[in-house]
Amino acid sequence: MKFQGVKLSGTGAYAPEKVVTNDDLAKIVDTSDEWIQTRTGIRERHIAAEGENTSDLAVEAAREALEDANIAAQDLELIIVATLTPDKPFANTGSLVQAKLDNTKAMAFSVEAGCTGFVYIYEIAAGMIASGLYKNALIVGAEKLSSVANWEDRTTCVLFGDGAGAAVLTATAGEENGYLGSNMGSDGNYSDILHIPGGGTSLPITVENYHEGHQFLQMKGQEVFKLAVNAMANSAKSVLEEAGLTVDDIDIVIPHQANVRIINAVGKKIGVPEDKVYINVDRYGNTSAATIPIALRELVEAGRVQKGTKILMVAFGGGLTWGASLIEC
Ligand code: UT7
Repeated sequence: MKFQGVKLSGTGAYAPEKVVTNDDLAKIVDTSDEWIQTRTGIRERHIAAEGENTSDLAVEAAREALEDANIAAQDLELIIVATLTPDKPFANTGSLVQAKLDNTKAMAFSVEAGCTGFVYIYEIAAGMIASGLYKNALIVGAEKLSSVANWEDRTTCVLFGDGAGAAVLTATAGEENGYLGSNMGSDGNYSDILHIPGGGTSLPITVENYHEGHQFLQMKGQEVFKLAVNAMANSAKSVLEEAGLTVDDIDIVIPHQANVRIINAVGKKIGVPEDKVYINVDRYGNTSAATIPIALRELVEAGRVQKGTKILMVAFGGGLTWGASLIEC
């Protein structure tokens, strides 16, 4: 094994065709466009069709990222999917994506780290490439959150959307390295403030408890809000400090897109000008592990990512988990 550099070679994103506005939601739960926009910044979200699964969303994003990177699916040696909404509890969504891409040689698996999933798998793939074990990796954040939303609970169902974003990471030939640093964390003591309590070994869904709704995503919104702001800001500050950089050295900050108020509060705490902070939660809602790679793709398409562009990605999610990483494109 020989240590090697890592670079971002391609990006892709996909959102299902169907768009659901706040006014559409106001027809099914007691809410309003005004409340949702003021409290969250969300205007609309994409919702997958029946039968359109997480792996299908992931594959669409993956194909775009592979084309962007000019790499054939067959050449991938590593495929990692981050999701909290797998197609099925087992087999893993990474392998399902691999099969749909007609790849027969990659190691493939999925990671459950909630909304922090994409920065976690970026770190995992970058580390595995840097160690010299692999050269070409595909990482995908993909979610069909509409499948775990309780459509009778206005406090959660208005927040989420479906979508996927992907990136191809490759080993660099020389000394060049585009992974500048990271700061990752987790605290399982808070697992029950943002979770799906049922469907696993601790609380199986039975005929008797089915109507209690344990199969749906549940959240203590205000607690999550406060922890998210602090964890994301601390993580972002730490990664900058460890890399010997300041916000002035960063071109773009991509925060996890859960709520525009969280994003603004984090931006303020780390002292980054608003025009450097990317926001698209208005158009997608919270797509969990998919928010950051969808944003990354949009930035590439908008021509804002050039050689040398430095990006700070920072996320927070159920677990609890959080993480920030710095990349140079
Ligand atoms: O991806 C990472 C995980 N997720 C997050 O980071 C989300 C973190 N939390 C949040 O973004 C916010 O806490 C929420 C958007 C979930 C809620 O905003 P909030 O400002 O904390 O509102 P709240 O929970 O304090 O609720 C305020 C009021 C309540 O009514 P009362 O008790 O004041 O009469 C709620 O019942 O708003 C009511 N409410 C709604 N009203 C209309 C809650 N949901 C809705 C709704 N429409 N959809």
